[in-house]
Amino acid sequence: MKGICVLGSTGSIGVSTLDVVGRHPNRYRVVVLTANNNLDRLYEQCLRFEPSYAVMIDEIQAIELRGRLRAAGQWRTQVLSGAKALEEVAVLPEVDAVMAAIVGAAGLLPTLAAARAGKTVLLANKEALVMSGPLFMAEVMKSGADLLPIDSEHNALFQCMPSDYHAGRRAPEVRRILLTASGGPFLRTSVEKLEQVTPDQAIAHPNWVMGRKISVDSATMMNKGLEVIEACLLFAMAPESVQVVVHPQSVIHSLVDYVDGTVLAQMGNPDMRIPIAHALAWPGRFDSGAEPLDLFGVRQLDFEPPDTIRFPCLRLAYEAVRAGGSAPAILNAANEVAVESFLEGRISFSAIPETISHCMDALPAGVADTLEAVLEADRSARAVARAFIAHQETS
Ligand SMILES: NC(=O)c1ccc[n+]([C@@H]2O[C@H](COP(=O)([O-])OP(=O)(O)OC[C@H]3O[C@@H](n4cnc5c(N)ncnc54)[C@H](OP(=O)(O)O)[C@@H]3O)[C@@H](O)[C@H]2O)c1
Repeated sequence: MKGICVLGSTGSIGVSTLDVVGRHPNRYRVVVLTANNNLDRLYEQCLRFEPSYAVMIDEIQAIELRGRLRAAGQWRTQVLSGAKALEEVAVLPEVDAVMAAIVGAAGLLPTLAAARAGKTVLLANKEALVMSGPLFMAEVMKSGADLLPIDSEHNALFQCMPSDYHAGRRAPEVRRILLTASGGPFLRTSVEKLEQVTPDQAIAHPNWVMGRKISVDSATMMNKGLEVIEACLLFAMAPESVQVVVHPQSVIHSLVDYVDGTVLAQMGNPDMRIPIAHALAWPGRFDSGAEPLDLFGVRQLDFEPPDTIRFPCLRLAYEAVRAGGSAPAILNAANEVAVESFLEGRISFSAIPETISHCMDALPAGVADTLEAVLEADRSARAVARAFIAHQETS
């Protein structure tokens, strides 16, 4: 039986992970669960899965969780608090696999710790990889950790790669990667109307149920931009060899184009339990709980090129990956600040790419080959983005 640590167990990916794990009690034992604020959900998860450790970021909430568990007669779970505890639990000897499902830069340090410790890393937290790119991949190579992509597109690509493929290596027989994108809720919305869209409209994704941040990223197409950078790193591809294809039905999750003209695609319903089950069972397979794909119900598959005029975030992400160094970390941090401000109602939807573009102009890409340099780029970009947004609010 394998031990699993679920970083971000109370989020959308965390809940889907526990749904799959719960279907296979003889394959996985839940060793660690973690949350930021959602005490009620973590409490329920601790009662059901009885992990050895639970982490809440806030110490007061951790004390409350401990009290509630003890009051319910649950003494098995040791409750820890603080961001540092995330790094400690990710490398415990009884942990074989780490599901990296914290959203945003907050997931970088524990995910990197897991990679350094040679754990099997199930990577949903794309921001961690985008920020630290070559540094993260070098740690994976050094420790020999298995890095398995959870993003449905990258998981699809991984499944379509040669059978002995390991993330981070270049497969010379692969010519191109085709990364599919649903286009999000505003695929047909005009530039003028995009200026007016509200957070509630932005988080209403047509095909997927996800956390708020990634839902806004999907609406701006920054999610696809981050995924382009993620694909370049995971599959050692040049940005020119990663092509985004808008495919509104979200049935084909991505495609690999081989040098002989063969194109392999992975298909399935838009249900994150499919890539999660693939990674958990890898190199075998087991039931995910997802419905079988009904092609007669789907009837039609459409494809179109992305519109980088209406969705400039995608263009900005290509610029960042081409610039390299600290540029992806700057892009990511500026995006996190801008999305948070949009969700708080402080800036318009269109101000998200404006904020990112401003940060990328203000902070030229530097070398980012150490963790300190990555974290410094993240800090500087957040400061520039916050100042830009504050200036917009007062002018
Ligand atoms: N959802 C999807 O379908 C999907 C698909 C592909 C990739 N991903 C990626 O998977 C990651 C998670 O996405 P999600 O949709 O599951 O997000 P989510 O629903 O917002 O969940 C995020 C998780 O991270 C925790 N968290 C948030 N801030 C934290 C902090 N500062 N420190 C520690 N923990 C923190 C949250 O705890 P609380 O619940 O307590 O706030 C929650 O457990 C993202 O990187 C996303 O891009 C998601």
